[in-house]
Amino acid sequence: MSAVHDEYAAAAEFYDSVTPYRARQDVAFFVEAARAAAGRVLEVGCGTGRVLIPTARAGVRITGLDLSSAMLDMCRQKVAQEPEDVQDRVTLVRADMRSFDLRPKFELVTTPFRPFQHLLTVDDQLACLAAIHRHLVPGGKLILDVFNPALDRLAGPLTSPVSYVEEVDFILPDGRRVLRHVRIVGRDLFKQVHDIEFDYLVTHADGRQEKRVHRTKMRYFFPYEVEHLLARSGFAVEDLFSDYDKSPYGSNYPGELIFVARKVERS
Ligand SMILES: C[S@@+](CC[C@H](N)C(=O)[O-])C[C@H]1O[C@@H](n2cnc3c(N)ncnc32)[C@H](O)[C@@H]1O
Repeated sequence: MSAVHDEYAAAAEFYDSVTPYRARQDVAFFVEAARAAAGRVLEVGCGTGRVLIPTARAGVRITGLDLSSAMLDMCRQKVAQEPEDVQDRVTLVRADMRSFDLRPKFELVTTPFRPFQHLLTVDDQLACLAAIHRHLVPGGKLILDVFNPALDRLAGPLTSPVSYVEEVDFILPDGRRVLRHVRIVGRDLFKQVHDIEFDYLVTHADGRQEKRVHRTKMRYFFPYEVEHLLARSGFAVEDLFSDYDKSPYGSNYPGELIFVARKVERS
């Protein structure tokens, strides 16, 4: 797997400082779900440990799986700064969410902040759900988190760049100042895939400037699609929330799509 291009390498050192990521209100939701699972938790696409570390601090044994060595390195450095008991509860694995093989099984699998949307084809999505299914204990739970595509935004002009957002700048721990631009540089309306470019404009202490680019593709899902994928993969949906405060689907638009599903045995 060493030849895999590490798409997140350009973003890893900035990830924890990015203003909208810091503002996300999902951590308490995932920590509560992990505690309620009363067993082992697997976070698929754990990144830098934004959710994984608070979960381990809450006393939960958690395995973080990610394909990006750069994201896992950031996570590993942060875990190393935690007290020993927290470190002991964390296992990190570099693997692809479409094909992994871990032991023992888990009471809960989570995918915080949309890693599943990096799977662009139905074959890849089904492969990932099958791998998760294999790794759950009987009756174990999956929390699958994707965004609900806003129809008004999808219906915008088809020219490129489709949209452009300049965020407020932020300062890295070493003093560098970073301004991030997010552009959707292409979109495939048939395959439901956005081609996204995150440009990080870095200003060093001596005034020198540098641009780092993270380019990625993300699939958007409509709610019934995910329901069908889950049903095909041996999961029964128990809840669908539109926000991390557990507002039900339909209470705000577009909101998130946070599926809570239980493993059912396939005949
Ligand atoms: C937006 S980040 C979310 C990270 C973390 N869960 C959080 O809440 O901050 C998406 C993560 O999914 C990972 N990822 C993307 N494709 C993957 C794959 N095929 N297998 C495993 N991880 C993958 C990326 O490397 C990245 O760390």
